[in-house]
Amino acid sequence: MCGIIGVLSRHEAAPLLVESLKRLEYRGYDSAGIATINNGTLERRRAVGKLVNLQDRLVHEPLAGKVGIGHTRWATHGVPNEANAHPHRAAGVAVVHNGIIENFRELRAFLAENGISYSTDTDTETIALLAQYYLDLGHSPRDAARDTIARLEGAYAVCFLFDGQDDLLIAARKGSPLAVGYGDGENFIGSDAIALAPITDRISYLDEGDWVILTRTSVEIRNAAGEQVSRPIRKIEGGSAATDKGGYKHFMAKEIAEQPTVLQGALANYIAPDADAVTLPDPGIDFAQIERLTMVACGTAYYACMVAKYWFEQIARLPVEIDVASEFRYREPPVTRGTVALFVSQSGETADTLAALRYMAGKAEKIVSVVNVAESSIARESDLALPIHAGAEIGVASTKAFTCQLTTLALLALKAASDRGEIDAATLNTHLGQLRQLPGILNTALGIEDNTRAIAADLAEARDILFLGRGAMYPLAHEGALKLKEISYIHAEAYASGELKHGPIALVDAHVPVIVMAPTDPLFDKTVSNMQEVMARGGKVLLITDEQGAKTASDGVWKTLILPKIDPFLAPILYAIPAQLLAYHTAIAKGTDVDQPRNLAKSVTVE
Ligand code: F6R
Repeated sequence: MCGIIGVLSRHEAAPLLVESLKRLEYRGYDSAGIATINNGTLERRRAVGKLVNLQDRLVHEPLAGKVGIGHTRWATHGVPNEANAHPHRAAGVAVVHNGIIENFRELRAFLAENGISYSTDTDTETIALLAQYYLDLGHSPRDAARDTIARLEGAYAVCFLFDGQDDLLIAARKGSPLAVGYGDGENFIGSDAIALAPITDRISYLDEGDWVILTRTSVEIRNAAGEQVSRPIRKIEGGSAATDKGGYKHFMAKEIAEQPTVLQGALANYIAPDADAVTLPDPGIDFAQIERLTMVACGTAYYACMVAKYWFEQIARLPVEIDVASEFRYREPPVTRGTVALFVSQSGETADTLAALRYMAGKAEKIVSVVNVAESSIARESDLALPIHAGAEIGVASTKAFTCQLTTLALLALKAASDRGEIDAATLNTHLGQLRQLPGILNTALGIEDNTRAIAADLAEARDILFLGRGAMYPLAHEGALKLKEISYIHAEAYASGELKHGPIALVDAHVPVIVMAPTDPLFDKTVSNMQEVMARGGKVLLITDEQGAKTASDGVWKTLILPKIDPFLAPILYAIPAQLLAYHTAIAKGTDVDQPRNLAKSVTVE
C-alpha cells in the first residue's frame, strides 16, 4: 500500500530507485515517481500507471544525482493522475509517503491562514508544504522535518529530500513500516527488506515513532521522545530469487506451483520427520490453560481463521471467536479471562489487523501471530510469532501464503488437541503422518491444471458465479470466490451449502455457474443434496471432489474436477488448489492483469 525508497549512494540514484521500486510495485501501481538532487537542485519525474511508464519517461528525461527518493502509489486521497503522484514537492523539499495523514484538513487550514495553498488532492502534499513553512521560518532541514513530523496524525512512513542537500535524507515511521539499509559509504531507507535487498543486505527495522537522519556515513535514529536510540542490524537474505518469476508467466503461477515445495519446508519447522508432536518456538503456549481463542485477520487470512475455527473447535474442543479486523477493532469486544488472541497476516503489516492486535494487548493472556514476514510489526508486537515460511509472495492474490497459514494453523490445532487431552496418540500420529504426505498430495492435485484451463474458458463468459461448501469447505468457497473476484473481476459469492435455499437460490439459472466443493467427508451427502437442489432449477454445476465423490454424484453436473482423496481434516488445504487455478485461468482467459489486479495492493497499511 504505497512503497517508498530513499538512497544516499556513491552511484547514480535513479537506476537504484527504479530497481527498488520494481520490488515495491506489489504495494501499489497507480503511479510512480522519483526525485533527486541534481547538481544541488531538486528535480523530479513522475508518471501515471505502472512503473514501466516512469521508466519510459526517464529514458527521454533522465534524472542525474546520487541522492534520491522514490514512490509507487496506491491511491487513497485523489485520483491516480500525475499531479497526485509522489514525490510531492513544495519549493525546497520533496516528500514520499505511505499511509494516511488524518489531520491533513486541519493542517491545510493552518497553512491557508499562513497564505500557503495546495495544488493536489492528496494528504501527502500537506507534509511537503508544512516542511517548507518551517524552512521559510528559518529552520534547518532537520528541525523542519522534526517539527513537521510532530504535527502529523494518522499513519505514515515518510521520507524527506531537501533542495541543495545532497548528503541528507530524513525519514520517520508511525503505523507504516520502514527500514534503514546500511551500505559502505552509502545508506538507504525503504518500506521493507524486499525493496532494500538489491542494494544492501544489512538493515534495521524502525520502531513506532522513530525518525532517522541519514547521511552517507551516519545513521542517527531518534525515538518518539527525541532520544537517540539504536535498532538492531540484521542480515537479510533472498537477493533476487525471491522476486523472480522463475520462468513462469506470472508470479501467481509460480506461487501456485511451488506450494508442494514450500509446504514441505514449512512443515519441517514444526514437525521433525519421525516426531510424534508439534514443536513451537519459545515462549510456547500451553493450550490446556486456555479457555477461548479469538482469531482476527483480513481477506484470505480471515478465511484461514474461519477454517481454523472448525479445527480448534472440533478436535481440540476449544471455543473460538473469529472476526475481520476492521470490525473487531471498533466493536470493543469484552475479553474474558483465559483468552488468547491469534492474528493471521501474510505481510504482518495490515493496518486493521495491527490495530486489533494493539486492542488485545494487555487484555488477552497472550498475543500470538501467524505471519509470513518474521520481522513485521505484527510479529514484533506478539508474544509468540509463528512464521508460515511461505517465502516472499509477490502476486497480489494470496496463494501459497494461504496454504502455509492453514498448515501452521492445523499444526497449532493438533498441538491444542494434544495439550488439552482431546486427541489420542494414534489419531495425532495419523494426522501428522497425513500432514507429512500433504506436499506430495498437493503435487498430484496440480495435475488438474489442464482440465481447469478448459473449464475456465467457459467461466470467463459468466457474469456471476456462486461457490458452495459445507463445514470447513465453506471458508474455501469464500476463498474461491475472493480469488476469482480479485483477478478476473467476475462477480462471485460464497454460501454455506445449506444456506442457499434461504434466499440466494433465487439467483440460480443456466447462466450462473455454481461451483461445489465437496470432498467425500461425513458431510458429503448433505452437500450433494444441496447441489441437486441447484441442478433441479437448471443450475450449471462444477463439482470439485475426489474419485469416489465423482462416481457417486457427478450425474447431471456440468463439469467435474477430481482431486486426490485426502484425510477430511486436511481437505481445506488441498481444495485451495482448484480455487487458485480456476481463478488464475479464468483471469488469463479474460486477459486481466493477474499479478497486479486493478484497485488492489498487496500490503494494506491503511485502514
Ligand atoms: C487476497 C489477499 C488479501 C489479504 C488481506 C490480508 O488474495 O491477499 O485478502 O489476505 O489483505 O493481508 P495480510 O495477510 O497481509 O494481513
